[in-house]
Amino acid sequence: MSERSCLAIVLAAGEGTRMRSSRPKVLHAIVGRTLLAHVLDAVMRAGVTAMAVVVGPGRDDVAAEAKRIVPDADIFVQHERRGTAHAVLAARDAIARNAGEILVVYADTPLLRPATLKRLRAALAQGAVIAVLGFRPADPKGYGRLITRDGELLAIREESEADVRERAIDLCNGGIMALAGPNALAILDRIGNTNRKGEFYLTDAVEIARKLGLKSVAVEAEEDDVRGVNTKGQLAEAETLAQERLRQAALDAGVTLVAPETVFLSADTKFGTDVVVEPYVVFGEKVTVGDGAVIHSFSHLAGATIGKGVSVGPFARLRPGTRLGDGARIGNFVEVKEAQIEAGAKANHLSYIGDAFVGANTNVGAGTITCNYDGHDKHRTEIGKDAFIGSNSALVAPVKIGDGAYIGSGSVITDNVPADALALGRGRQVVKENWATRLRALKSLGKKKAHRAK
Ligand code: UD1
Ligand code: CA
Repeated sequence: MSERSCLAIVLAAGEGTRMRSSRPKVLHAIVGRTLLAHVLDAVMRAGVTAMAVVVGPGRDDVAAEAKRIVPDADIFVQHERRGTAHAVLAARDAIARNAGEILVVYADTPLLRPATLKRLRAALAQGAVIAVLGFRPADPKGYGRLITRDGELLAIREESEADVRERAIDLCNGGIMALAGPNALAILDRIGNTNRKGEFYLTDAVEIARKLGLKSVAVEAEEDDVRGVNTKGQLAEAETLAQERLRQAALDAGVTLVAPETVFLSADTKFGTDVVVEPYVVFGEKVTVGDGAVIHSFSHLAGATIGKGVSVGPFARLRPGTRLGDGARIGNFVEVKEAQIEAGAKANHLSYIGDAFVGANTNVGAGTITCNYDGHDKHRTEIGKDAFIGSNSALVAPVKIGDGAYIGSGSVITDNVPADALALGRGRQVVKENWATRLRALKSLGKKKAHRAK
């Protein structure tokens, strides 16, 4: 690959009004990550050495997301929307720093792959001054057409400017362009706006280069690489395609997905070896699954770190801050949040464990609830190791239960319990012999009286 320095200019100025959302388009997410983050990540992995992100006026939220992903990205504002070349020139200061290559990408093409960008860069390394990513869409309507001859790209014609013959060309402009750095400003500054829309078209760079005696080429890619997101429908399509890629990567890495099409992953989901994921499981952001763990059907996980050999679900909900030690078991209808469950501990049925620590090998009985919220603040429950929490206990936080302690079933525990003690916090059982017999006798007497009164 080229060792030349490379500046990427990411155009993120579009508002995306067709999304019908108060949120800017590029901050919508697929597989748990914004469109902008996907593109920046692909660009970084293509080996760029500097990043410029062009945002619309007042778009601090877009700038902040760019900085979150690439902290040393330079942010430029395109104050007026006057075309793609005008947007690129908003980053003039970055261009003037003399990068060897310049890559222009749109922030709304989240399925772009680093390998595709590398192919574009390779075309520059072979002597072209401009390399443009082309593709053959099923329906070319709306795209610029690539006019080629003998492997050379002569011009890009916007559809609104194209004649009938040019419109019949099926090789279209994907919008991604690589330019040789030393020639870039000379070309970009010659672009005018004498077209039907009165915009400065980046696509005109190709014809201008040609007039200067410089060669351009087209590099063909799959449609997915340049698939733009403009509507919620296209966002959903991109999600589907990105999910397929993640599932395939998980399978390739050795994860057993029993029914891959029913499992939803996030871009940052991490699996160890010999993990089994049953059908219908959703992985939200920031989940790590240890070796040999089994995630049973209908579980929803987010922000959870799962140790080796852990069993989760079916029907489990792991919320952010969940940490499950090796061999822990979280069973059906159990919700865990901001809690550390140590190795070998179990909560097998119908529980809520929030803001808690559960020591190693402790058994949390069915229906146990940590009452962590008093209506104002959250409080912690700490349970030692080898403890036994009887079924249907309410642990009213803040509260501590010592190692090896027993809690009687149905207890409401409000005070700390020392190690190895038994705590009972429930009404004592009362048995009244023959009470039911007497009740029935009384009731039938009453009925006879009522009958006679009629
Ligand atoms: C552009 C290309 C077209 C190509 C298509 C691929 C031009 C002139 N045309 O057309 O050949 O087939 O993309 O999708 O380049 N933007 C700005 N500021 C502006 C104008 C645009 O930041 O002033 C950004 C947009 O937010 C968008 C991208 O540039 O991310 C493309 O702009 P858009 O107006 O969608 O161009 P198209 O007409 O689709
Ligand atoms: Ca477009």
